[in-house]
Amino acid sequence: MTAITIEVNAASASYVVHIEPGLAHRLPEHLEKLPAGSKLGIVTTQPIFDLHGAALQSAMTGAGYDVTLAVIPDGEPFKTLETAASLYTTLIEAGFDRQSTLVSLGGGVVGDLTGFVAATYLRGIGFIQIPTTLLAMVDASVGGKTGVNHPLGKNLIGAFHQPLAVLIDPGFLRTLPARQMRAGLAEMLKMGLIADPDYLDLLLASLADFKEPLDDGPAGSLIATACRLKADIVSADERETNRSTTAGRRLLNFGHTLGHAIEAVAGYGKLLHGEAVALGMVGAAYLSAEIAGLPFDSVARIEAMVAQLKPPGIGSLDPEQLAATIARDKKRLQGTLHWVLLKQIGAPVISGAVQPDTLSAAIDRLQRRFP
Ligand SMILES: NC(=O)c1ccc[n+]([C@@H]2O[C@H](COP(=O)([O-])OP(=O)(O)OC[C@H]3O[C@@H](n4cnc5c(N)ncnc54)[C@H](O)[C@@H]3O)[C@@H](O)[C@H]2O)c1
Repeated sequence: MTAITIEVNAASASYVVHIEPGLAHRLPEHLEKLPAGSKLGIVTTQPIFDLHGAALQSAMTGAGYDVTLAVIPDGEPFKTLETAASLYTTLIEAGFDRQSTLVSLGGGVVGDLTGFVAATYLRGIGFIQIPTTLLAMVDASVGGKTGVNHPLGKNLIGAFHQPLAVLIDPGFLRTLPARQMRAGLAEMLKMGLIADPDYLDLLLASLADFKEPLDDGPAGSLIATACRLKADIVSADERETNRSTTAGRRLLNFGHTLGHAIEAVAGYGKLLHGEAVALGMVGAAYLSAEIAGLPFDSVARIEAMVAQLKPPGIGSLDPEQLAATIARDKKRLQGTLHWVLLKQIGAPVISGAVQPDTLSAAIDRLQRRFP
């Protein structure tokens, strides 16, 4: 594939998402075009550094950049204020100033945390996203939502802070475990379901062998289209303030209301975020048939596509605990929890209250379908 560049034009900043196989080998060329200064901090984790970071670091150093390497612990449990604090210390000790730039190399965890530190260090410095998981390429790295978790809940502390650029090399996916790959595919299916039925068809046609061949197969352009669909939504509604029931950033939460509850009740770390969202999309499809008129054959199609992603079963989760977790989320959001449903594939709508017995029936059906 040739390189694809997508523009994000958010209210606070404009930047490009650049997708190009082998980009990692030409990183200094891309950095030169950005207002990144000469002092860079690479934030990554040890496993990612060992796979991909060392080469990137030496390319940047070789090109004359003053590079500080900050290795943080790997995984969601470390997306915390404590990790952010240790990163601030590293930056202060290394003399990072307002012209310095952070480079996030990793999945959504590293990207969210690095973005949050960039948003808050010296009241905001620049950062560049180099996502290495599929989920981070198609979703987390685009749109400027940054943050960390709190012991009482995920992503409760954060900031909107757009990157200077998002640089995507699909080649990183060669080393990504299949389960992580499927979790990213779930977010791509979501984009098709809420925004573009033609894209969904294209994606489904290559779901089984998405990665092959990585250089000139469909993966690069499918990643690019997912980024473009997300870029269009966040450009129009950067801070999720659009209250329309059929437009705006809230639509990106399709599958997430139930998905978050599944993730929490299973115990964080048992299911990947993308797996929980995949299951949540099936639950939302059942509700959509009941409330928004989604045709039954579309529901069956959504069930079948999620089954292809082989999410873990959730039959053992307590349905009452799932409903209670959703109710708690609603309370935390001061009663403004909204369900994103589908009138048709590609035609989302935000619904008001879902009656408890309708929700229970959907959870029950979901657990029977994915026991
Ligand atoms: N900011 C947003 O808009 C947004 C959107 C969606 C999700 N998120 C956040 O993203 C996070 C999930 O991100 P994730 O799914 O990328 O998980 P992750 O960042 O935890 O990465 C998953 C695992 O994959 C490994 N890994 C990364 N790249 C690899 C590669 N190329 N080869 C081999 N292994 C690799 C990592 O070491 C890690 O163990 C969550 O914290 C979620 O809240 C943010």
